[in-house]
Amino acid sequence: MNDSSPTGRAGRYTLIGIVAILAVVLIGLLWMGVLAPHPMDFAGGTRVALTEYHAQDPTGVPAELKSASLIEQGEYLARAADCAACHTADGGVPFAGGRAFVLPFGTLYSTNITPDKETGIGNYSDANFLEAVHKGIGRDHTRLYPAMPFASYTYMTTADAAAIKAYLFSLAPVHAPAPQNTLSFPFNQRSLMGVWALLFNPDKRFEPRTERDPQWNRGAYLVEAMAHCGECHTPRNLMQALNNREKFAGAVQAGWRAYNITSDPKSGIGAWSEAALAQYLATGHADGRGAATGPMGEAVDNSLQYMTQTDIAAMVTYVRSVSGIASSDLPEPKASPAPASHAEGVAANSDPRGKAVYAGACASCHDWTGVSPVIPSATLTGVRSVNDPTATNVVQVILSGSHRQAADTRATMPAFGSAYSDEEIASLANYVTARFGAQPSAVSAQNIAALRAQN
Ligand code: HEC
Ligand code: HEC
Ligand code: HEC
Repeated sequence: MNDSSPTGRAGRYTLIGIVAILAVVLIGLLWMGVLAPHPMDFAGGTRVALTEYHAQDPTGVPAELKSASLIEQGEYLARAADCAACHTADGGVPFAGGRAFVLPFGTLYSTNITPDKETGIGNYSDANFLEAVHKGIGRDHTRLYPAMPFASYTYMTTADAAAIKAYLFSLAPVHAPAPQNTLSFPFNQRSLMGVWALLFNPDKRFEPRTERDPQWNRGAYLVEAMAHCGECHTPRNLMQALNNREKFAGAVQAGWRAYNITSDPKSGIGAWSEAALAQYLATGHADGRGAATGPMGEAVDNSLQYMTQTDIAAMVTYVRSVSGIASSDLPEPKASPAPASHAEGVAANSDPRGKAVYAGACASCHDWTGVSPVIPSATLTGVRSVNDPTATNVVQVILSGSHRQAADTRATMPAFGSAYSDEEIASLANYVTARFGAQPSAVSAQNIAALRAQN
């Protein structure tokens, strides 16, 4: 056949296409091997299949719930995995989907996972459900976007996934079609997600480490297979897969900074006591360390507050064992309160608008010292957000409030986003970090506008 004939050219393009895809797959495989270790590799030791592990089973529900019904067990596990976080729209029915994920290339919506046959997962068999949770394969065998954290849930046991399905199927079906995604080409090509899954989803169930005790292994299971802490706290590579070489070193998630939670004493949480970390996870606040706001506050409210004390203790043991990684831009939090006099503390030549707003809107609850006499849990001294020189979460909390009640007084941090201009909020954030933190921020009105756009 003549090579310049249309069919010959098409054949050559197909061949080039196939070679290009193979090259991408090969680079991806190398990348996976080189850049994306398993989330538990930091721990070393011997991995064994669950059936080979003869100590206490690290999976399933805690001892208190072993004799509960399958549905009750499923409810606990669905909370541990926080399915509601993403599958509930703002103010919507739990699990009915429709939450928007604003991505650089368009908006993706979570789907309805109530048992409605038409718009939910009512027609899913057990096998379909497992394919979604372990492999990222959705209805009609289409590929799911990794915004659904199947690369973490893949570690979940089949029995635990089945309990979650039993719980979801016990809920009232809600008729709620997901809004149409607005992703641009080529990101609207679901088949590409199959390549992503091939490269970055290990598609393996949880493997305990024999050198570690049962409590550590239970914590590992809860953190990796269920609570998916790394999906927010671990940085991603160019292909949006978790880069476990920097496990838990911090990342920006939906406009919020999910801080470094490695055991580095200055920029991570290595200096926190076990009790402080347990208190933070169970209640959303730790004395002297601050409050869980934004997506972390939601994780506490929807998920972590329901975990038993023993499960919280197991997670604390596991998280504290993660190797320390220093973030050069996060200083050690300043431990001393600011001066009681508002005339002292921040250089007189700094932008006066921030101080004026602080006096009018903030000092009544947060005091000039930052140690609140009325609401102890609103204390700003020693808190990471005011010791982050990007001031990202300070701005977010000012814009949208805390959406939750403080653990002690039930007080709420109000939203000030519509009360002040971008300029005022920028100078307020810069004032707050300069007054209470180790290093002042220098955010601009443009930074505020960009963060507003993410809400
Ligand atoms: C971090 C956010 C997030 C969490 C947590 C999450 N999901 Fe999802 N899930 C999504 C998104 C987004 C989609 C839609 C993905 C797409 O359209 O490709 C989805 C899709 C699904 C689907 C496919 C539905 C369909 O229409 O085919 C199922 C099933 C599902 N999720 C179940 C679960 C279960 C069970 C849990 C808890 C164990 C869970 N999800 C937790 C974000 C999440
Ligand atoms: C949905 C995203 C998300 C998930 C999932 C998540 N976090 Fe967070 N986390 C955040 C954000 C955002 C912050 C910052 C909150 C703030 O400034 O109030 C945070 C803050 C924290 C802090 C406080 C750090 C500091 O220096 O103040 C700890 C500790 C923490 N998370 C631990 C965990 C653990 C453990 C898990 C899993 C059980 C987890 N997080 C799951 C987003 C998340
Ligand atoms: C009605 C009392 C009240 C007012 C007024 C108020 N706050 Fe708050 N603020 C709180 C409470 C309570 C919390 C802790 C929220 C929680 O526990 O979830 C908080 C939390 C915060 C945090 C997060 C601290 C952390 O632990 O990460 C920052 C930053 C903050 N406020 C700044 C401000 C600024 C700036 C203003 C003025 C615009 C302001 N607040 C006004 C009550 C208030």
